[in-house]
Amino acid sequence: MLLLSALLTFILHASKVRGLDNGLAITPQMGWNTYNHFGCDISETSILNTAKAMVANNLTKLGYEYVLIDDCWQAPARDPNTGAPVANSDKFPRGIKALADDVHALGMKVGQLHVTISFGWLTSRGDPSQKFGIYSNAGKLTCGSRFGSLGHEEIDAKTYAEWGVDYLKYDNCYNEGQAGTPKLSFDRFAAMSYALNATGRPILYSVCNWGEDGPWNFAPTIANSWRISGDIMDNFGRFDERCPCTSALDCKLPGFNCAMARIIDFAAPLGQKARQGAWNDLDMLEIGNGGMTYDEYVSHFTFWSILKSPLILGNDITNMSPETLEIITNKAIIDINQDPAASPATRRWKRSVPGGDLSLWSGSLVNYRFIFALLNTSPKSQTVDIDFTDVFVDQGTVYQHQPYALSDLWQKDASGNWGKPLGTFQGSLSKVVIGSHQTKIWMAVPAP
Ligand code: GLA
Repeated sequence: MLLLSALLTFILHASKVRGLDNGLAITPQMGWNTYNHFGCDISETSILNTAKAMVANNLTKLGYEYVLIDDCWQAPARDPNTGAPVANSDKFPRGIKALADDVHALGMKVGQLHVTISFGWLTSRGDPSQKFGIYSNAGKLTCGSRFGSLGHEEIDAKTYAEWGVDYLKYDNCYNEGQAGTPKLSFDRFAAMSYALNATGRPILYSVCNWGEDGPWNFAPTIANSWRISGDIMDNFGRFDERCPCTSALDCKLPGFNCAMARIIDFAAPLGQKARQGAWNDLDMLEIGNGGMTYDEYVSHFTFWSILKSPLILGNDITNMSPETLEIITNKAIIDINQDPAASPATRRWKRSVPGGDLSLWSGSLVNYRFIFALLNTSPKSQTVDIDFTDVFVDQGTVYQHQPYALSDLWQKDASGNWGKPLGTFQGSLSKVVIGSHQTKIWMAVPAP
């Protein structure tokens, strides 16, 4: 059975165009990163406690497999003799390798079945053991002013591989002016890509250059994902001058403090560039960090999922409210993100209403299933008619006029699973009431 399913997965994946050929991120990567909650206040203990809490809350079983250290893990300087990177000994007294080993061992310790099928470049999904990642920067310094990797790519990649690193987030600060054209950015980020590949260890490569020079055009063959905007802010839609661009295309100053709904806008035209192994990264999640309401975090999670962003949690996993846990474990939404069709949803229309806008999005999944979603960024509840000629515009008239069984993916069915059946609908879904900052999302399956 196992062999048969491995073979089927192989055939499915072999027929698709893919990005960086390291066999990783066939679906968007999932995990947790230190930065959004802890900033530079990180330590071996807090990271290990988080890794354990991920197992205890069954997050690893849902696919959240990477435990990622962001900036500020570094010692004040590299090893003066070898030039190799060194960890801060107060924060990581046993060094990074010991922590990576502990994280790797965690999934096994709780008695979960650890199955890895290697078939050429294919590694199976569903391995419940945790993976470990680290951060560096394609510049002289990191954004937190620790030593960067520019000019040290080979020794850094080699050291990470020796430490057992499975994932590198690679940032863009202090880049010595080597940006401003796609070629300059490409060369700087490709140097680390080649160095990682040369180690022989599969290391997921997450480029974090905030959309500068259009990484969706130059990064798909060298990276598994690329950030499309300045840093996210834990806020629904507030404009902040430090995130000045109105579109990710030709943005000259990505900045930071980009509100969540603004990043959805930035991402809207970029779905066409995503594919297996190569994803638009809308930045790490803020769910559970306290700056947004329940409905706003539902919008955040839904859009990161349907736009096929990596789902990297950024909250304190050791101390979560039931609402936070409920949002990040909605399996119906995660399944859309991880759907093998690898097809991001597209915005079908956007209409201004006082104080914001309404937008309709739709996309397709494998096995003739479809999703559509409605977002209301305005301060008031709105009533909307959704026309299936808009939802199924890519599929043509037969699809637009046939009946569909719909389910609401933010309500539960009678057995407590996400996705409440709503009945059969043809032509439209009328008089949908959508609250302020709310997202509603439906699964549509052709009905007999
Ligand atoms: C940049 C990145 C963030 C984070 C910080 C760390 O701002 O975009 O995601 O990694 O650096 O200093």
